[in-house]
Amino acid sequence: MADLCSFRWILAVLLVSLTLLGSLLVQWPSLLNTFQRPTTPTQSSIPVNVTTTTVLVWYWAFGFKENIRGNVCKDRFGIPNCILSDDRSLFSQADFIIFHNRELINGQQRLPFHLPRPHKQRWVWFSMESPANNGNLRPFAGQFNYTMSYRRDADFFTPYGWLAPHSVGPGMSVEDFIPKDKSHLACWIVSNYAAHHRRTRVYNRLKQVIQVEVYGGAVNRRLDSEHLLPTVSHCYFYLAFENSEFQDYITEKLWKNALEGGAVPVVLGPSRRNYEAMIPKDSFIHVDDFSSVEELGQFLKQVAEDRERYASYFKWKLNYTVAHTSNWLVEPQCRICTTLTTLQKPKVYTDLQSWEWK
Ligand SMILES: *[C@@H]1O[C@H](CO)[C@@H](O)[C@H](O)[C@H]1NC(C)=O
Ligand SMILES: *[C@@H]1O[C@H](CO)[C@@H](O)[C@H](O)[C@H]1NC(C)=O
Ligand SMILES: *[C@@H]1O[C@H](CO)[C@@H](O)[C@H](O)[C@H]1NC(C)=O
Repeated sequence: MADLCSFRWILAVLLVSLTLLGSLLVQWPSLLNTFQRPTTPTQSSIPVNVTTTTVLVWYWAFGFKENIRGNVCKDRFGIPNCILSDDRSLFSQADFIIFHNRELINGQQRLPFHLPRPHKQRWVWFSMESPANNGNLRPFAGQFNYTMSYRRDADFFTPYGWLAPHSVGPGMSVEDFIPKDKSHLACWIVSNYAAHHRRTRVYNRLKQVIQVEVYGGAVNRRLDSEHLLPTVSHCYFYLAFENSEFQDYITEKLWKNALEGGAVPVVLGPSRRNYEAMIPKDSFIHVDDFSSVEELGQFLKQVAEDRERYASYFKWKLNYTVAHTSNWLVEPQCRICTTLTTLQKPKVYTDLQSWEWK
């Protein structure tokens, strides 16, 4: 009886060992793989081939040529193994080519159909404009693999700004973040003034209820970059009115002019819900919160006269700071190299126009 027991015991141990050995053998190649792919090669290790990604800017957006000499992605953003270039002779080795939409739709530039497109090469459609200003994209059906835009569902999401968490020193209160010397109730900077914009209609009615200080090219009161934020800081409210209303289309009017300028944003653009995905719900006033522009105007007057209520719109300043890309023509382009493992591939925008307008 005892002998039989120990025999069974030995058999069981043998079986377990065999199973373990088997599973180890199965896993061996993947274990090897893990060890063969160090993320940062150390000096003592045998040099491993690291793949370098080449991102080619086919032409500069709006002709804003940037100096990208040297190892710009590494030097400026700490992104290694990433070549950013505007040298078209690198076409055949480029992994990604970026095409800014404006020049394509106005005919200044064309897609390089005359060159043999390498199989691995991916074309990126780039625009920071809303669909209302992107023209007809039907001719580009089936050409682009990826999109780069302010839209959250773009392959390369490049927002105009975002809130970065930060902590302020102890003892700081909301009041410390509200600019002093508020002298104007509401301010608006407008360069592209068009009667058909909804924002123009809202402004025209609002100015009958409250005083609105208007600046910008449209009224021949341009503010240069040096004077913009100081000017806005004197306003209780800033009309962050977008030129068109589309999902995620929230521009520097909110991030820079209002939030950085230290005026409470009164927004006109996508839905309140869309804004709430980007900034705290109590940090802004939405035009659609009111059933009429008159009501909005009365509300602004009340809030400006109620210090505590006004200050409550600045609570976010205790936990966040406004951030934006350091250079929208270089940084998102370099960041392509950091997204390689998460990119959907293969991918083709077979109907870019529908994606744009969805
Ligand atoms: C590393 O790159 C060199 C040059 O491109 C190539 O000749 C070599 O075969 C590569 N080695 C490995 C292990 O891939
Ligand atoms: C925001 O900041 C304040 C003051 O520093 C702190 O007391 C509070 O816990 C923070 N809130 C969050 C959600 O981090
Ligand atoms: C990129 O798009 C082109 C054109 O539609 C297509 O032929 C190619 O397979 C795509 N490549 C990838 C990696 O998705």
